[in-house]
Amino acid sequence: MNRARIGIIGGSGLYQMPGLTDVEEITLDTPFGAPSDKICVGRLAGVEVAFLARHGRSHSWIPSQIPYRANIYALKSLGVQYLLSVSAVGSMREEIAPLDMVLPDQFIDLTRRREGSFFGDGAVAHVSLADPVCPVLSQVMADAFGECDLQGIRLHRGGTYVCIEGPAFSTRAESIWFRGMGASVIGMTNMPEVRLAREAEIAYATLALATDWDCWHPHQACVTAEMAISNLRGNAERAQRLLRRAVERLAAEWPTSTAHTALDAALVTPIPAM
Ligand code: ADE
Repeated sequence: MNRARIGIIGGSGLYQMPGLTDVEEITLDTPFGAPSDKICVGRLAGVEVAFLARHGRSHSWIPSQIPYRANIYALKSLGVQYLLSVSAVGSMREEIAPLDMVLPDQFIDLTRRREGSFFGDGAVAHVSLADPVCPVLSQVMADAFGECDLQGIRLHRGGTYVCIEGPAFSTRAESIWFRGMGASVIGMTNMPEVRLAREAEIAYATLALATDWDCWHPHQACVTAEMAISNLRGNAERAQRLLRRAVERLAAEWPTSTAHTALDAALVTPIPAM
């Protein structure tokens, strides 16, 4: 099915995409179960886009229960080749303040209870994750940021996203430890999403919206869900504007990405086509 080449996964606080027109809500089933919610396929700035709310539109999935494989499989089956993800994160660095935006380019996966691969049961492949984010897509997001007037919001290019299992926030000892590992931001959902996107040969980049200081900072309040949600409300509309511009830019060039051929050097046994 070639319904949309661009997919958007909205995280906490981003449950829909205003400006999406001619919307069709598609209910899909996959070999990995149903995705988090119906997928809204429509036009954003005239370009076909498939939008999925990662936690469901009524925020009903905790991070451990999100059907990551079904989400990526469903988007792939709609024809998605570029995936723009939006995610709430805590800041692990003094220079990243709540409301700042970050384009991470690395991940540390500390999740424990998630199915993290499409492979197994006789189908074997090892994709490269040395550079898990597509640099072309990340550049498109950065250019889009530069073109939107985001009223004093700062963008940080690059950085490491440490992904914890959740749903509880970290202990202070963990938070300090993650900083020592080199983490820039902390979240609960980008793993295994980024890995599955690579296995599905979809170019992926995440726009991380900083909402809090987690709990390492000696002079800032520790994260609460209320704090994170209130800061997200302030930033959701800005993220939506940035995404719209990124979609326009992508559709102007349809850049090739090395992610699109990720299985060329990865397959050990052949897999049935998705
Ligand atoms: N999402 C937003 N803030 C977070 C934090 N401090 N830890 C984990 N996930 C988050």
